[in-house]
Amino acid sequence: MLDISSHDIVLVGGGGAGLRAAIAISEANPKLSVAVVSKVYPMRSHTVAAEGGAAGVHLEDDSLDDHAYDTISGGDWLCDQDAVEAFVKEAPQELMRLEHWGCPWSREPDGRVAVRPFGGMKKTRTWFAADKTGFHMLHTLFQTSLKYDAVIRYDEFYATRLLVDDGRAQGVVALELTTGKVQAITAKAVILCTGGCGKIFRFTTNASIKTGDGMALAYRAGAPLKDMEFVQYHPTGLPFTGILITEAARAEGGYLLNKDGYRYLQDYNLGTPEPKPVLRTMELGPRDRLSQAFVKEQEKGRTVEGPYGAVVNLDLRHLGEKTINTKLPFVRELCLKYENIDPITQLIPVRPVVHYMMGGVHTDINGATPLAGLYAAGETACVSINGANRLGSNSLSELLVFGARAGRAAADYVSGQKAPGRALLAQALDEEARLQTQFLRKTGGRESIAELREEMQKIMEQCAGIYRTHESLAGASGKLQELQERFKDIRMDDRGHLFNTELISALELSCMLEVAETMAESALRRTESRGAHQRTDYPARDDEKFLAHSLAYRDAEGRPRVEYAPVTITRWPPAERVYGK
Ligand code: FUM
Repeated sequence: MLDISSHDIVLVGGGGAGLRAAIAISEANPKLSVAVVSKVYPMRSHTVAAEGGAAGVHLEDDSLDDHAYDTISGGDWLCDQDAVEAFVKEAPQELMRLEHWGCPWSREPDGRVAVRPFGGMKKTRTWFAADKTGFHMLHTLFQTSLKYDAVIRYDEFYATRLLVDDGRAQGVVALELTTGKVQAITAKAVILCTGGCGKIFRFTTNASIKTGDGMALAYRAGAPLKDMEFVQYHPTGLPFTGILITEAARAEGGYLLNKDGYRYLQDYNLGTPEPKPVLRTMELGPRDRLSQAFVKEQEKGRTVEGPYGAVVNLDLRHLGEKTINTKLPFVRELCLKYENIDPITQLIPVRPVVHYMMGGVHTDINGATPLAGLYAAGETACVSINGANRLGSNSLSELLVFGARAGRAAADYVSGQKAPGRALLAQALDEEARLQTQFLRKTGGRESIAELREEMQKIMEQCAGIYRTHESLAGASGKLQELQERFKDIRMDDRGHLFNTELISALELSCMLEVAETMAESALRRTESRGAHQRTDYPARDDEKFLAHSLAYRDAEGRPRVEYAPVTITRWPPAERVYGK
């Protein structure tokens, strides 16, 4: 039997953006009832895994314009500059607000909040809490959200469909994981904060929960996905597990070495080791360029062949035990636990791994999507402040700034809206029936969920990775369509209701397959190279044709149709990206 509950606003996702949005709604109007629907307990959301820090202007030698310029040039001029200007202005305010809510930022000896340099940022502006910044931010947001009685949590609920009636998003259908019960959660507005979709790829820093659920929900409901061709590889993940070794390790002075022990980044227009200072250059170049340099080194045969493919080495030994234990304790813990390596005395093998989606649900500067009543914030969304390549440490600040903005905008929007109508019930019943027929009562399928997922990950890694071509992307697109067909024939063995992880895996895979198609299709059509999207057949940036956001809409056949929208340029006309000078 279908359960029904009603709120003013439903938030899907209980990570940093979702919790910040929930707090903003309650601050704006404490009477609004807010549902936070999360497939995991909020403290297990992927924000917890963020390590290095959150960017916001803090020191006297820095300025909002400097932060804006670094972000815009780092994004290869695809960022919307009005959004970036709002972001850099509000980021320090949000970080200070977190301080007041109890976030234990690391300190200078005189008690001031400490900041560290970060990749692609020419000034030092990354606030941090050792190398567990996301963990501390998430705790702070979670404990603050507990103050508000109107925030009602639906922990371990998986949203399977957006409810849309009269052209407005009006809630979700969600599956309670502990019981298998289907519930309609209606509202006057919905905010998607479900994070990214790194699990579409084989090697990723992302947790298993990052399967593009919110992107797929929006896309299926008619909202476009923007700039999906821009996928960020982080240059230093552990081989096999993909676990993040934070950029903070390089900010503290770590080196990247090829198989000859040579700091190879000096060969890639990212600066030279001497004279000092070296921090703004080489190892602290932007992520797209560092990941591309890895591939070039590999092609020259100068990487190290490890049991899980090619790696280079991250050298922290010269930093000494004290710095590693105080500034990078988590890096040491991860290396000891997952690689049996102690970075105080040993080199860390690393490789580029998928880390972040610059693209996401198309929103305006307040998180509003083109579908009335639907908002998105955090990695799920594309505002866009990240353009073609995000700078490390901008995303934690982004989820605060735009989580808060989306929350305030949704609170404002719902004040003029009627309560959801009866038509939603029929939609929710339909969805319940779909889950039964397509999955729970399905018989006779031949395809394995795990095998399809692995095939998708290999296709994406091989065909839509750091370097792409027309041939590789067209191949990916075709193969993904085949996987979609084969998905209809999946085998479902678990008929149970309690924590049916097979069902969730199937639903997640269906989201990933659709989102992956938008990536391949958008990448195929962008015949230029910009930021993280590198086409070896079109190696130059083409501002004439592609100073534009791609928008992938789901067509009647369920396939992506790609259109373009202009980039907002306010004060920084397109120019060359220069590092290492
Ligand atoms: O390397 C890191 O700590 C990652 C930070 C980020 O993606 O912002």
